[in-house]
Amino acid sequence: MSSALTDLFPHPIVQAPMAGGVSVPRLAAAVSEAGGLGFLAAGYKTADGMYQEIKQLRGLTSRPFGVNVFIPQPEQSESGAVEVYAHQLAGEAAWYETELGDPDSGRDDGYDAKLAVLLDNPVPVVSFHFGVPSREVLDKLRRAGTFTLVTATSAEEARAVEQAGADAVIAQGVEAGGHQGTHRDVPENDGSGTGLLSLVAQIREAVGIPVVAAGGIMRGSQIAAVLAAGASAAQLGTAFLATPESGAHALHKQALTNPLFTRTELTRAFSGRPARALVNRFVREHGPYAPAAYPEVNHLTSPLRKAAAKAGDAQGMSLFAGQGHRMARELPAGRLVEVLVGELDAVRTALSAQGGPR
Ligand SMILES: Cc1cc2nc3c(=O)[nH]c(=O)nc-3n(C[C@H](O)[C@H](O)[C@H](O)COP(=O)(O)O)c2cc1C
Repeated sequence: MSSALTDLFPHPIVQAPMAGGVSVPRLAAAVSEAGGLGFLAAGYKTADGMYQEIKQLRGLTSRPFGVNVFIPQPEQSESGAVEVYAHQLAGEAAWYETELGDPDSGRDDGYDAKLAVLLDNPVPVVSFHFGVPSREVLDKLRRAGTFTLVTATSAEEARAVEQAGADAVIAQGVEAGGHQGTHRDVPENDGSGTGLLSLVAQIREAVGIPVVAAGGIMRGSQIAAVLAAGASAAQLGTAFLATPESGAHALHKQALTNPLFTRTELTRAFSGRPARALVNRFVREHGPYAPAAYPEVNHLTSPLRKAAAKAGDAQGMSLFAGQGHRMARELPAGRLVEVLVGELDAVRTALSAQGGPR
């Protein structure tokens, strides 16, 4: 690992931030206590909600942790596209006996207010998703003693991350669960995502800053593979989603290994931006025509997702998951870190017995 990352946490394992109530303080605390890097997700929260979670986490662990923030999105949807989608979702609203959300409920996710909190009360690590913060923001965070990470889904995006002055880049492969952190959502590029091993190698050659690899990693042997490809650490989401400490809905956890859910897909159905989810009825029915309109579509579908969860209907929920979901283990998060480290060490031992990686 890069010296700065190594100094922060002993094992090369980052628990991915997962918005929507998944990466709650008890999960982040368990991972950080076990020697990985636990993460809170500020996405969809108010700045105060984020601050309360940070305080709670600080009460649970004195180890380093991270907070993830979404970059505000430019307006891009074709006029009328959201209204058409709302019309198409009317039957869902009637079925779940709820209203659709207001698509104009705000598009910056409280970015400035969250940054103000993070500068007033600095945390060890901050990561950004959906774009690159300004150099000024990254400089201010560095001066506050915060290590910064920014997601990239291509070598070109990784170069932009390095040029802006981030301390490290997260290489997010197309296998990853949840939203792709693509900097600019270009619908014509749908389906052109890059697999993680290829992406890590490409980004490693494109930039000099450390790389954290994310996407489909469920076992220590895969962590060994991304480290061998030049990553400094691995970021795992779906693997931690299944742990008892995660705040994911019980049906979401069960769905990961339920044979009814045979595959995942990148879909705009829930938020208007491509996100990898288990294919359920909602994805099948609405994914094919959902518009590129984030965060409007996210606001629009929010009451539907909540109502489906309340009704215990997994077919209407957003079941975000990476391609490795079937390999999820229901271990306590700290134990999962231990098991992953054991698997990683086994690969390292086997390789050194053969004379090291060639
Ligand atoms: C349920 C869920 C929610 C996620 N939410 C966020 C988020 O709020 N911020 C973020 O940077 N990444 C988010 N991600 C993506 C992760 O950071 C990471 O790229 C992904 O989990 C890696 O793939 P894996 O799930 O196959 O391990 C989310 C992923 C999942 C599964």
